[in-house]
Amino acid sequence: MRLDKMLGNLGYGTRSEIKKMCRQGMVTVNGQEAKKPDQHINPDQDQVCLNGQEVSYREYIYLMMNKPAGCVSATFDRYDQTVIDLINPEYLAFDPFPVGRLDKDTEGLLVITNDGQLSHRVLSPKKHVPKKYYAQIDQEVVARDIEAFSKGLYIGDDYTTRPAKLEIIRTFEADDGSLGSEIYVTISEGKFHQVKRMFEAVGKQVLYLKRVQMGGLSLDESLELGQYRELTEEEVKLLEDREI
Ligand code: URA
Repeated sequence: MRLDKMLGNLGYGTRSEIKKMCRQGMVTVNGQEAKKPDQHINPDQDQVCLNGQEVSYREYIYLMMNKPAGCVSATFDRYDQTVIDLINPEYLAFDPFPVGRLDKDTEGLLVITNDGQLSHRVLSPKKHVPKKYYAQIDQEVVARDIEAFSKGLYIGDDYTTRPAKLEIIRTFEADDGSLGSEIYVTISEGKFHQVKRMFEAVGKQVLYLKRVQMGGLSLDESLELGQYRELTEEEVKLLEDREI
């Protein structure tokens, strides 16, 4: 790979800025001043330094965010804050985007990457990667609902979902004395508003929704809302697990 391409991809400047840095002796390759920006290097083997600091090259970044309510899962939005607006500039040179969408009012696990192929594999309905959500429901969830979810539900637009796994965590009493439930639901597709529409199909409303797992990857609960961290290599692999 060309030296100027490597540094450019990492966001260290335009090609002409990098040329200037090379001319000024700010860039070294294996300890030797690199005067030629078009010199070829092997990013896995050669040691590239800028102002004496080692530059580590990688093609992809993988971040796990605990998405807060109120921001949208997009790279740009004319009105709303996006999840990308919460990301540090050091990552923005990689052109990251969210893997799939969570609604504006949904919280929880969102993976942000620039690896389009991984994103495709995780989202493709053919791959059946499960997505698990925690939700609070406005009424008591009962065995009949578990059965209905397990068969798949008609959610409008000519579409019946694949079977989904519904688990009741507990039933609670709201301030007005009515009953509600906390549940987990696991789906393997990602239709627009799918979880909310599945509950609407059984006459119930989702009051709060949070994604807790994608494939074998669980939300790191130590992340505050709006915080993110890099995934480990192991965690990236877990994302494609079909069993959870
Ligand atoms: N299902 C929904 O209804 N909303 C989300 O954000 C994700 C799944």
